[in-house]
Amino acid sequence: MYWQLQNCCGFAIVACALVLLSATHAFPDGAPADTCVKSRTNEPNHGAARSQSLAALPYQVTASGSAYGPGSQIQVTIHGHQDVFRGFFLQARDAQTNEWIGSWYETPNTKTIPECSSITHADNRDKEQATFVWQAPKDRQGQVYFTGTIVKNYSTYWASVIAAVPAASGRHL
Ligand SMILES: *[C@@H]1O[C@H](CO)[C@@H](O)[C@H](O)[C@H]1NC(C)=O
Repeated sequence: MYWQLQNCCGFAIVACALVLLSATHAFPDGAPADTCVKSRTNEPNHGAARSQSLAALPYQVTASGSAYGPGSQIQVTIHGHQDVFRGFFLQARDAQTNEWIGSWYETPNTKTIPECSSITHADNRDKEQATFVWQAPKDRQGQVYFTGTIVKNYSTYWASVIAAVPAASGRHL
């Protein structure tokens, strides 16, 4: 019983330390959910750092389409080519109304934020490429776009990136 109690306290201390760690260390497990609603939407809380120019974006961000039907899926890819990235925060938005729409499939190295149709990284290891699958609501059709932030390191990131839709791929999966 005593051992169990001690073990429990130890766990509480570890949990506390983890919380502190994530508060000071640039969200190694992805953007926090309040990213959805804060004033500088799409900008990570990285101290004094500001977004780099999109003209110098070293990554290729593409979506396999922009038109969606009920329940259809669209694939979104971040491709680093030579440049690796550590983090990302992507939202799906309806092109007409701008509202958050649909949901993402969560994988072991991503974390979804269903409240705002967003997906973020679940670890801060260097990545060369990441592919996500978005699913439209079951009862709607329209046009969607994917926008967000890609983080290279704590002070270097690109905000308000919009996924391009290559001309040849405007159809549903
Ligand atoms: C972050 O990336 C930029 C651009 O590649 C680089 O100049 C800078 O040294 C990096 N900073 C750290 C802390 O690695």
